[in-house]
Amino acid sequence: MEATMLISSVKRVGKVDPRLYSSFIEHMGRAVYEGIYQPDHPSANESGFRQDVIHLVKELNIPMIRYPGGNFVSGFRWEDSIGPIASRPKRLDLAWRTIETNEVGIHEFYNWCQHVGAEINMAVNLGARGVDAARNLVEYCNFPKGTYWSDLRCSNGQESPFGIKTWCLGNEMDGPWQIGHKTAEEYGRLAAETAKAMKLVDDSIEVVLCGSSNRQMPTFGDWELTVLDQAYDQIDYLSLHQYYGNQKNDLSHYLARSLDMDRFISEVTAMCDTIKAKKHSKKQINLSFDEWNIWYHSAEQDEQAAPWQIAPPLLEDNYNFEDALLLGCLLITLLKHADRVKIACLAQLVNVIAPIRTETNGEAWRQTIYYPFMQAAMYGQGEVLSPQIHSANYATEDFEEVPYLESVAVINDKELVIFAVNRGEEEMNLTVRLSELSVAGVIDFSEMSGFDTKATNLPKSEQVKPSHSTNVKAEDGKINCLLKPLSWNVVRCY
Ligand code: AHR
Repeated sequence: MEATMLISSVKRVGKVDPRLYSSFIEHMGRAVYEGIYQPDHPSANESGFRQDVIHLVKELNIPMIRYPGGNFVSGFRWEDSIGPIASRPKRLDLAWRTIETNEVGIHEFYNWCQHVGAEINMAVNLGARGVDAARNLVEYCNFPKGTYWSDLRCSNGQESPFGIKTWCLGNEMDGPWQIGHKTAEEYGRLAAETAKAMKLVDDSIEVVLCGSSNRQMPTFGDWELTVLDQAYDQIDYLSLHQYYGNQKNDLSHYLARSLDMDRFISEVTAMCDTIKAKKHSKKQINLSFDEWNIWYHSAEQDEQAAPWQIAPPLLEDNYNFEDALLLGCLLITLLKHADRVKIACLAQLVNVIAPIRTETNGEAWRQTIYYPFMQAAMYGQGEVLSPQIHSANYATEDFEEVPYLESVAVINDKELVIFAVNRGEEEMNLTVRLSELSVAGVIDFSEMSGFDTKATNLPKSEQVKPSHSTNVKAEDGKINCLLKPLSWNVVRCY
């Protein structure tokens, strides 16, 4: 199969915000306990954090981590998670029907983030709580000193403020499963007033308003328009959440899910701009895709989980090769919308629907989806160039034209990088023509291909991973490469 791409230096989508490669850790399952924190593990440091996990997280280059939920946050009392660990209360977590020990709280998580080089994106509880708890939390985290909450932070051992810049105004408030679920009108008003109070404490923060929990919600659309109408002046970003799965075991349909993400982003962008126009506002609301990933493998197993355990295994999806291919398509789609999607959080990071898994009595290991995410975070920095793509298409039940080639290019001072997925089961000869651009040669061509679509990684056996290919030539105005059937590819030229 032949495919061509035209990349022109004048067709720029926009600059990649490094926060596009953010992630998410929720107090649920084995994400925190037995994930990042396990004091009795041989690799634990003096604070109880697993250094094997820190090592793998650092390799992913993650700039920001959303915390502490998720559905968990709608029942969370943040005051339970500060002060001497021995006196912190154990609480019922009604979202996941488990017991939260509060052994890891805001201070401990902040310290862990310092180890991995990430900042926190903090969610406040707008389910069971409201304005008061949220503005107190901002004061506790960000106010220098000399007030009740800031002095309490100092007396708990943190003299300098945490300086948290990005805050989520609750989580999935449109979802009937959410503790304190609200109508769009109720949530929109509460979010506006909460954002106002939080920004009165610290006017340098940015806040994310909850959009729909997914594109299939019956209220999708109405929800966005209503909450934006209520809170437009107080907020900075609108959130999107979406998880994908191959429940039908139909590979062509599955690999086309990124077209659904593309449509979702365009629709939400249009809604932000509709309210901007309605309000005659000069302000642009950008998007935070603050939960995205593949989630379906663990569903059946989780139905059998007994309630009220501490850190039981939950949502531990074992990702296979086809999941890595879709993740690559989803990353390319996020990059294509870099002009409006400023934040995106791969949900989640450790054990719970995660690229990193831990063994209680063994080492941490990389799942298949780890690799495309790592390569995009590492090399997808700079300006996104919008390519003109010519490739054969196929049809699915919901998309008439799914191109076999999914691709985007990113340019920076040092290199031109092409990310490409071949969705087809045939080899693809890709010719990339460059306009008002030139390259002198290839730095590297990495490909992930040749695996059984259902192949997974295991502890001590990370067989599904990228390798180097020499099937590439780059000179002046042209790059030629061979994309293997069903492959994720990263071509870097200088
Ligand atoms: O990431 C797992 C869960 O998915 C989150 O708690 C919730 O926000 C979403 O429904």
